Amino acid sequence: MAQTPRIIKTKVGIIGGGPAGLMLSHLLSKSGIDNLVVEMRDHETIRNTHRAGILEAQAVKMLTESGVDGRVLTDGDEHAGIDLRFNGESHPLDFRDLVDATVTLYAQNEVFVDLAAARQRDGGDVRYNCEVTEIMDMETSTPKFRFTDAEGTLFEVHADVIVGADGSRSFARRQMPDTVRKDFKVAYPFAWFGILTEAPKSSPELIYANSPHGFALISQRSETVQRMYFQCDPNEDVNAWSDDQIWSELQKRVDGPDNFQLKTGKIFDKTVLGFRSFVREPLSHGRMFLIGDAGHTVPPTGAKGLNLAFADVKVLFEALDSFFSTGSDKLLGGYSDLALKRVWKAQNFSYWMTSMLHTPVNADPFMAKRALGELETVTSSRYGQQYLAESYTGWPHS
Ligand code: DHB
Repeated sequence: MAQTPRIIKTKVGIIGGGPAGLMLSHLLSKSGIDNLVVEMRDHETIRNTHRAGILEAQAVKMLTESGVDGRVLTDGDEHAGIDLRFNGESHPLDFRDLVDATVTLYAQNEVFVDLAAARQRDGGDVRYNCEVTEIMDMETSTPKFRFTDAEGTLFEVHADVIVGADGSRSFARRQMPDTVRKDFKVAYPFAWFGILTEAPKSSPELIYANSPHGFALISQRSETVQRMYFQCDPNEDVNAWSDDQIWSELQKRVDGPDNFQLKTGKIFDKTVLGFRSFVREPLSHGRMFLIGDAGHTVPPTGAKGLNLAFADVKVLFEALDSFFSTGSDKLLGGYSDLALKRVWKAQNFSYWMTSMLHTPVNADPFMAKRALGELETVTSSRYGQQYLAESYTGWPHS
């Protein structure tokens, strides 16, 4: 016999407990707006999902000014530039000099750990291991959704607003009616092979390298742990690669007359990261709103994903705060258009960085040379450098 669901009443029902959902929940609770977060995965799985590690100063501010935790300031590493490497030569960009801004290297899974701890500290209602099975009445002023918890108990959430923060494979997104939605997407013929290694830093700044062998990114995590990526086939089997093969592949892509050498070590994590550009329009329907990867995905080059999610959170939080304090849904009605402006800027930036730095296998030699011409244009002009630096460090939040 079908279970009778247990009813939970709240103001904002958030589907998805990654960084975007938790950040929104945190801000709402600080404003006294009752909310609930349900997440499909368990805490450990999210904590061990390695993603990008670059935070714009505005994202750092959202964490620190809202009292999440000071760890991003003590454990995060401020970076004032990057190194664009092509034709075997380094081209440093100094963000402080160019646009008076910096970014902070702090892994996305640490952001999750901090937010989850803050939600627990503040008595937030965050439920892991829960499967959302149905969203109802999103076109009414009392949207609802059903979920089953880890014990198999069925719940029905009655809210004023529902938020889909459930990542790139979003269930919430798929519940919007076909007639009101449009998806925009690009597929890429490559992916990134990502590693974590016990090694010292190879260089003070992150290196983004275009090479005849394909792209490589030399990033960091700490003095003793480094993060690196190299362009690979989307179907690459990470287990087929020995540490020596990986190091030789990475080294090939940063080789040059300056004899730059990577500092190597034991590799303890290997994953393939898919590439996709995706935008859902609009980012809302009725009383349901999409934030972060649920509404849009960017390829990883330039690390815009989490930063974009936090920008969505800021716009949506302000609209919800206004809605619950004044009763006016004017700002909520403008959420999608306002958030999408930044989404498309970030889509352009991520696509641009990707196409400039990667050489697809079997690329037309003209296209490979064209990308080098673009890198030369950007790095040889202060305006070009500033364009990249402004986008990388993040346009002002609206
Ligand atoms: C990292 C990932 C990125 O995609 C990027 O552009 C910079 C850094 C990282 O994981 O450290």
